[in-house]
Amino acid sequence: AIESPYEHIKVSTPKPGVGLITLNRPKALNALFTPLFIELNDCLRKFDADDSIGATVLTGSQKAFAAGADIKEMKDKSFADAYGHDFIELWSSTITSLKKPLISAVNGYALGGGCELALMTDIIYTSTNATFGQPEIKLGVIPGAGGSQRLTRAIGKSRAMDLILTGENFSGKQAYEWGVAAKCFETPEECVEGALATAEKIVGMGRLAVKAAKEVVNKSQDLGIRDGVEYERRIFHGLFGSRDQKIGMTAFAEKKKAEWSNE
Ligand code: CAA
Repeated sequence: AIESPYEHIKVSTPKPGVGLITLNRPKALNALFTPLFIELNDCLRKFDADDSIGATVLTGSQKAFAAGADIKEMKDKSFADAYGHDFIELWSSTITSLKKPLISAVNGYALGGGCELALMTDIIYTSTNATFGQPEIKLGVIPGAGGSQRLTRAIGKSRAMDLILTGENFSGKQAYEWGVAAKCFETPEECVEGALATAEKIVGMGRLAVKAAKEVVNKSQDLGIRDGVEYERRIFHGLFGSRDQKIGMTAFAEKKKAEWSNE
C-alpha cells in the first residue's frame, strides 16, 4: 500500500471520478488548525488539477464534521499573531477558488469554523444527527471564517443575527428546512452515500458545463441580479462554442445518451 502523505485527513476515490476527503483528527473532534488546512488545501488543489477527478465529497466522522477552530491552539494568540499572519485566511482561500464541485456531508458537530467550512462548500448534505452553530460569541469572539456573511446569505439576517448573537446551535433538520443544506438524511451513512451518489451524477455530466454552472451560481453571491443574469448569458453563449453543446443537444434530438467529449 502507498503511504498517505497526510496526517489529518484521509483520502480515497470510492467511485470513478469521485474524490472523498475525510477529516481525521478524532481526538479533538476534527478541531481545525492550520496543519490540517495545509493538507486539505494540498489535496483539494491536486483533485482540482486531476483530469480523472470530477467532483469531491468532504466529510468528517459521525460524531463531528468539525467542532470548530482549535481553541487550545488559538487561545494565546495576540492581535499581531492573528492580523500579522492573516490567521484563518488560508482556511478559505483555496476552498473558495476551486473550479470543480465540492459537496460536504455534514454529520455530528459542525460548530464555528466547522459550520463555516461546510458553508464554503458548493452543496451541503446533512443528517438528523448533525448540530450546526456559530458559538464564537461564547468564547468572546465572532465567526472568523465567513460565517457572518455566508450564513446570513443562506438564512437571512434576522435568523443569522439570532444565532450568531446567542451562539445557539441548530440541527441538521433545521439546516435543511432553512435552506443551508440541500438534503437531510436519517443517518450519517446515508448522508455520505447520498453525497457520493450526487458527486457521481455530476461526474456523468460534461465537464465544461459543470464548470460553467458552478461559476455562474457562485457569481450570484457577488453580483447584483442584472449583472449576474448578464454574466450568466455570456457564459451560456460561450458554451455554444463547445463540442459538448452539440453532443448534448444532438443526443436529445436523436433520443440517445450523450457521450461527453469534455471539449
Ligand atoms: N478546539 C480544541 N479542542 C476541541 C474543540 C475545539 N474547537 N472541540 C472539541 N475539542 C476537544 C475537547 O477539548 C476534548 O479534548 P480532551 O479529550 O483532550 O479534553 C475532545 O475534543 C472531545 O471533546 P469534548 O470532551 O468536549 O466532547 P463532548 O462530546 O463533551 O462535547 C462539543 C462536544 C459540544 C462539540 C464540545 O467539544 C465543544 O463545545 N467544543 C467547542 C465548540 C466551539 O466552541 N467551536 C467554535 C470554536 S471558535 C471558531 O471556530 C472560530 C472561527 O470562527 C473560525
